[in-house]
Amino acid sequence: MADKIFPNWQAKNSELFSKHIITEQHSLHENELFSDEALARLIEKTPRSNYHVNTHDLVNISKSTWRDGEFGDLSGEQVLKAVRDGHIWINIQRPWEADKAYGDVLDQMFQEMQANVPSFTTMPDKNKMTILISSPKIKVFYHCDIPGQALWQIRGRKRVYIYPNSEPFLKNEEMEKIILGRIDEHDITYQEWYDDYAEILDLEPGTMSHWPINGPHRIENLDVMNVSLTTEHWNTDLRNHYAVRYANGLLRDSFGFKKLATPTSGFGLYARLALAGMHKISGLRKLKKMKYNVDFQVDPSQKIGFKDIPAYQLSK
Ligand SMILES: [Fe+2]
Repeated sequence: MADKIFPNWQAKNSELFSKHIITEQHSLHENELFSDEALARLIEKTPRSNYHVNTHDLVNISKSTWRDGEFGDLSGEQVLKAVRDGHIWINIQRPWEADKAYGDVLDQMFQEMQANVPSFTTMPDKNKMTILISSPKIKVFYHCDIPGQALWQIRGRKRVYIYPNSEPFLKNEEMEKIILGRIDEHDITYQEWYDDYAEILDLEPGTMSHWPINGPHRIENLDVMNVSLTTEHWNTDLRNHYAVRYANGLLRDSFGFKKLATPTSGFGLYARLALAGMHKISGLRKLKKMKYNVDFQVDPSQKIGFKDIPAYQLSK
C-alpha cells in the first residue's frame, strides 16, 4: 500500500463529513504523479475527448466571455509553460484512461475516506477524478455541481468561496432545471451580497475541502499557477436526492405544482423515485452531447498563453 493519503485525519471530520464544510490535510502534493514532469506526460497522452482548456476575458469576468481551446501539437512542457505565464484553465478528465496509476490513486482516496467516515459509502464505478491545471489569477464563476464533490490542492494557492446549499443561494427551481438538463450549472443566479454568507477558504498544497451536496461555490486563483484535483462521487442518498429534484422539476414544469417538498424517506420519496424512474434517469447525468465552440490554441510564446484560431465545433 502506498503512503497514507490522510496521515492525520481529524476525528471531528468523521462526524462533519458531507454535513458541513470541512478541510483535511492530505499527502497527494508529495505524490510523483502530480509533479510537473508527470503532468507533462499526462497532457501528451490525454485524448481530445478527455480535456478542456478554457480562458475568460481579463476585464469582463463573466460566463459570456468563457472560451474553449485546444492544445494543438505542443509538448506537455510547452502547455505547462503557457499555463504558468498565461491566462488559461485546463481540466484533464478521466486521467486513468491515459495512465492507470491515476485510477489506483483515486481508488485509494475513496478507500481512505470511507475508512475514516463509517457512514460514507459510494458507488465505486462512479467515483471520478479531474485534474485542474490553471494560471495565476484565473477565476471559476459561481456554480454548483450535481454529484458529491471535493477539491484537493496540490500546488499553488486558491481562494474558494462556498455558499449554503439552500435558498436563496441555490434556488430549487434552478437546481431542478440543471438536473433536467435545461440550464447549465453556471447559469444559477449569483449576487455580490451572497459573499457575506460564504465560507472563504484559502487552499494550500496538501489541503482538501469537502462540502454539503450541491453547495454553490466560486474560485479565484491567487497570484500563482495552481494544480488541483476534484473528486466526484455518488451514493444511494445522493441518487435519491437527485431523483427527488428530478421528479420535482417534472412536477413543477409539466404539471404546474408550486410548493414542493424534498423528502428523504417515506411515500413522498418513493413516489418521486418512481416518477423519476419512469423518465429513465438511472444513467445519472448522461445527458445529450454538448457542443463546444473551439476558437483558440494554447501558445506559450503569447503573453496570455494562447492565440486565436478559426472557430470550429467540438461535440463530446
Ligand atoms: Fe465546482
